[in-house]
Amino acid sequence: MIIRHAKGVTSKQGRTGWPEGTFEDEHGRDGFAGEASMLYRAHPPTRWTRIDGNLKPRAIDSTAVEPTDRTDPGGVPSRLLYNEDVHLYVSRRRAPMSYYMRNADGDEIHFVHEGVGTIETDYGPLTYETGDYVVLPKGTNYRVVPDSPDNFFLIIESRKGPTGFPERGMLGQHVPFDFALLQCPDPQPILDEGSEYEVRIKRADEWTSVYYDFCPLDAVGWTGNLCPYKLNVRDLRAPYSERTHLPPSTYATFQCPGFWVVTFQPKPFETAPDAERVPAYHRNVDYDEVVFTHSGRLMSRAEDQGAATMTLHPAGIHHGPNPRAFEGAKKADRMDAFLVNVDAEKPLKWTEAFADAEDPNYWATFSDQLVPIAP
Ligand SMILES: [Fe+2]
Repeated sequence: MIIRHAKGVTSKQGRTGWPEGTFEDEHGRDGFAGEASMLYRAHPPTRWTRIDGNLKPRAIDSTAVEPTDRTDPGGVPSRLLYNEDVHLYVSRRRAPMSYYMRNADGDEIHFVHEGVGTIETDYGPLTYETGDYVVLPKGTNYRVVPDSPDNFFLIIESRKGPTGFPERGMLGQHVPFDFALLQCPDPQPILDEGSEYEVRIKRADEWTSVYYDFCPLDAVGWTGNLCPYKLNVRDLRAPYSERTHLPPSTYATFQCPGFWVVTFQPKPFETAPDAERVPAYHRNVDYDEVVFTHSGRLMSRAEDQGAATMTLHPAGIHHGPNPRAFEGAKKADRMDAFLVNVDAEKPLKWTEAFADAEDPNYWATFSDQLVPIAP
């Protein structure tokens, strides 16, 4: 439907000047890109008193997750959330991998929340540091070799197809980052022989080990357009408007079949007096939303949630600002935060590792009427 209607009490434009005493609720399709209406409600739609059923906001402290790779060089990351398009894992490796990994289920996007080191690959080594996205195409042989004692990766596995970039259209070639930033490796073959080298292949989530008496990272050169690469979130340059709150889709970093990866990044708050600084309430019916806090706090929260908090806001049920976030955003000049957001089209399921780390009261933090939170 192209024609836009305005009935009853509304603002003149969405995202600006909510009528006194109302709460703006965006009812939209296709994330923030499709047809949408703004509803001006007398109450925040997150002011629930009870939720019966699985469709509720969830949060975990992912530092409570203990993947086997934390203590065992032969260990693996912990899977937390998954559907047929995307799986999310946490890796906390302290020592170099004792094997070479080949993922035949999908691409891996490693977001480095903490740590420095090297990922050795068929194509050559890529060093990593905090804030890097390292993309390893499906089928790449690799080995993580940390230099720091503590390493924390959020791993996003794309199961239905390759990692790509969102269409930029009118944003042009340099927003939200210049493709010239992408760094890919130079060959650096490891020509060791004589020991036993294991390549562990994952296909349909089952493992097969293949053994060699030479290092499998022995490529002396490569040519083509499929390779590992990295970029760091500090180099991202999201669009900004003084006069309106832009939706997160404008700073999407990767697009894969069935999901998007969006990087929330530091930005000044809107300065136009009638521009809303916090997101509208929304029920986002076409995506389950996962947000991993790398640093800082999202503008819709009243308190810091802590680094490495991971939230799941399922499609269909509302989320949006804590009531006190409105006041907080009025007093602040900027949002100084980096957060990794994965929006998945199909419903995400959670694992036992996720359930074990869950905060049972997160759903209630949206309503200060239920849970008093210290000022
Ligand atoms: Fe959202």
